[in-house]
Amino acid sequence: MSPGTIRAVLIGAGQRGALSYAPYALQFPEELEFVAVAEPDAKRRATFAAQHNIPQDKQFESWEPLLENPAVGEAVVIATQDWQHTAPAVAAMRAGYHVLLEKPMATTAEDCRLLYGTSAETGRQLFICHVLRYTPHFLKMRELVQSGVLGRIVQVSHRENVSFWHMAHSYVRGNWANSEQSSPMILAKCCHDLDILPWILGQNPVQLASTGSLMHFRPENAPEGAPARCLEGCPAEDVCPYFAPFIYQDMAPFWNSFADTSRGFHRWAARTYIHYPNLIQALSLVVPALRQLTHYEGWPLSVLAQDPAPENIEAALRDGPYGRCVYHCGSDVVDQQVVLMQMEDGAPVTLTMHGHSHNEVRTTRIEGSEGRLMAEFGPGGSRITLDEHRTDWHMEFDTSAGAGSGHGGGDLRLVAAFLDSLRRGDTEAALQGTREALQAHLLAFAAEESRLSGGFVSSETWGT
Ligand SMILES: NC(=O)c1ccc[n+]([C@@H]2O[C@H](COP(=O)([O-])OP(=O)(O)OC[C@H]3O[C@@H](n4cnc5c(N)ncnc54)[C@H](O)[C@@H]3O)[C@@H](O)[C@H]2O)c1
Repeated sequence: MSPGTIRAVLIGAGQRGALSYAPYALQFPEELEFVAVAEPDAKRRATFAAQHNIPQDKQFESWEPLLENPAVGEAVVIATQDWQHTAPAVAAMRAGYHVLLEKPMATTAEDCRLLYGTSAETGRQLFICHVLRYTPHFLKMRELVQSGVLGRIVQVSHRENVSFWHMAHSYVRGNWANSEQSSPMILAKCCHDLDILPWILGQNPVQLASTGSLMHFRPENAPEGAPARCLEGCPAEDVCPYFAPFIYQDMAPFWNSFADTSRGFHRWAARTYIHYPNLIQALSLVVPALRQLTHYEGWPLSVLAQDPAPENIEAALRDGPYGRCVYHCGSDVVDQQVVLMQMEDGAPVTLTMHGHSHNEVRTTRIEGSEGRLMAEFGPGGSRITLDEHRTDWHMEFDTSAGAGSGHGGGDLRLVAAFLDSLRRGDTEAALQGTREALQAHLLAFAAEESRLSGGFVSSETWGT
């Protein structure tokens, strides 16, 4: 360990903690080292401990005993489920740790304020994982808007097009299907969007209104005779887009989303793999890059089984939550919602979120008095185009982060920014960042309030 290495503790060695952020320590061991872990799942705990050489006496089944002891490092990464953020984050800051906390920071406005207040009071940095801020894509968009090239911003339409299979995976069959147990979908999925829109535009909303509902994933929409689980002889197995083996064994919808937003070799390879898997299997023997497709074991497969071998996926579909019929899951979160915000400068901004997109992609269209910006941000790549009214000057920017970079490169860049902030010790700047994250969360609660009660909610109500 070199003298500048930040020593960190991981709380929650699941998808995000172990697979999205912790790999930074393996890639840059001179910057970050994990020295302890708290994780109730014995297999996950052991795997993480082995990868990061964590001794037995620094492996815990839960975060409480770890945080009761004197601090063993400078930072804590908290990646437990949404409703398990506040207590460990407050305890960690009080124990003297700086905290990298997964979004949503908490599931109530009160707890979000408590977290912000604890950071202000203790002087411990609290970074919320708003990964989109660190992507080349949204950084470029912000730079372009703030350069003034579009003139005055007059209208913004931003869409979070959640693919039908991602919706089914996370918000119907998965961890975020119940708003009481986890979060309203506008918070779980779109606190990122509510964070970046004011940040890109350099102004805040003064009022908002929202509408939305759960339209499709209801028992009355089930195909006739559909059983509780896909593998129990569903009569719609050849036509239903949510048929679990189609999503998790064929993986065609997953690769389709990837292909649709990628270019060149990656696009060709993914499309060919969907239609001619044997050809790509054979070519992968001589073209190692193709093993990214043929040996894929990442999300969402890694959620079904820690070792996503075909027999384990089959077992998960037979017995686990991801093999259930989407119409019989009892989910209660929306599958479409629109938020209309009026910004300080008067411009209307719409955020449209829905879970029926053919492909996974965020799209943005910003109309200015002097030009137009259009953008798409997907799992295969991202791009921005800009057109100037007077000159008809057309510019294109490839803002892709490269293959295998989670959230368009945001995941690892976020960790780098957190470490950099700790090294600089700029508590004020970090607190300003936490305040902005708090603001994004309060916008999400206000949107949910408006959706349920109708009418506009003004910024005086949500405050900060
Ligand atoms: N930043 C993003 O873009 C982004 C993307 C996806 C998910 N998330 C958020 O990340 C968080 C984690 O999601 P995930 O998909 O990794 O979930 P996960 O279920 O895979 O991981 C959570 C882990 O926490 C562990 N845990 C439970 N109780 C614990 C305790 N008492 N002490 C320590 N660990 C405990 C669980 O066993 C599990 O391994 C969620 O809040 C989610 O909303 C953020």
